[in-house]
Amino acid sequence: MPKPIRKAVMPVAGLGTRVLPGAKTVAKELLNVVDRPIIAYAVAEARAAGIEHIVMVTGRGKQALEDYFDHHIELEAQLAAKGKTELLEEILAGLPKAGEMSFVRQMRPLGLGHAVWCARDLIGDEPFAVILPDMLMAAKTPALAQAVAAYDQVGGNIIVVEPVAEDDTHRYGVVALEGGRDHYPGRGVPTRMSAMVEKPPRGTAPSNLIVSGRYILQPEIFDILAAHETGAGGEIQLTDAMVRLMGRQDFHALEYDGVTYDCGDKIGLLRANVAFALRHPDLGPDARAAIEALLRD
Ligand code: UTP
Repeated sequence: MPKPIRKAVMPVAGLGTRVLPGAKTVAKELLNVVDRPIIAYAVAEARAAGIEHIVMVTGRGKQALEDYFDHHIELEAQLAAKGKTELLEEILAGLPKAGEMSFVRQMRPLGLGHAVWCARDLIGDEPFAVILPDMLMAAKTPALAQAVAAYDQVGGNIIVVEPVAEDDTHRYGVVALEGGRDHYPGRGVPTRMSAMVEKPPRGTAPSNLIVSGRYILQPEIFDILAAHETGAGGEIQLTDAMVRLMGRQDFHALEYDGVTYDCGDKIGLLRANVAFALRHPDLGPDARAAIEALLRD
């Protein structure tokens, strides 16, 4: 059995330019999907995968993220006094236990790879998960739990992927599978990777499987990230470091069973709100009626 995955890094220091002006003063991870911020879904997903400690890599203007995961004494007292016990319990259930969540500052948004590197001392010498919170994943078995199950089978490094239309591959990081796409066994089967290409020109993608925001990585990635080499867009890219590590360690792609909503994008955020509202246990029927009425207008 490989070493257990106990810790997860959540990089939340990006500027969120694709969701401006909303993300100017409110971290994009605090934008709501229906009735709670995007980050709350990511934390619930991590817990469901057995993660014991979350390291958030934050930046300037993201203090409200820390506050969201702390007690709000006045609010809690008010809810208790008014007998709103169910709501109070729901809010308390979303909080980490003392010491289960750490925050580290990236200080300058130099790229995703740099953000992950900022968590190195808090992760130490053990394998860990990375969750990109703005990639909201709806799945019966939470996406990270699927990745951890795959890791328990094959160890090494796991990249969660999902298929997109061939026409769209040039916008993403795309994985190449050992044996090529003809021998791909399909969803749910961890499949050894041979390479990863960032934004391949149209018609050159090695597969239609894109890197989708959940990773399990070995701590040696930090040694590679420490070189602070810049890649696409002048940023320190996690993809480049993973490609380097692939030369020395096993990487498996796992096509997970679920749907991803890119909440770092205006339409993605809208899609997430509609989808989550429709399947919300209390709000679902009213949401459907409201959406149908809007479509009729
Ligand atoms: P994005 O590619 O979505 O970049 O980052 P961004 O800056 O957040 O948003 P846009 O593109 O300007 O709209 C992917 C993930 O990496 C984090 C982001 O917070 C997001 O979770 N990130 C990115 C950092 O933590 N630091 C960085 O320097 C860059």
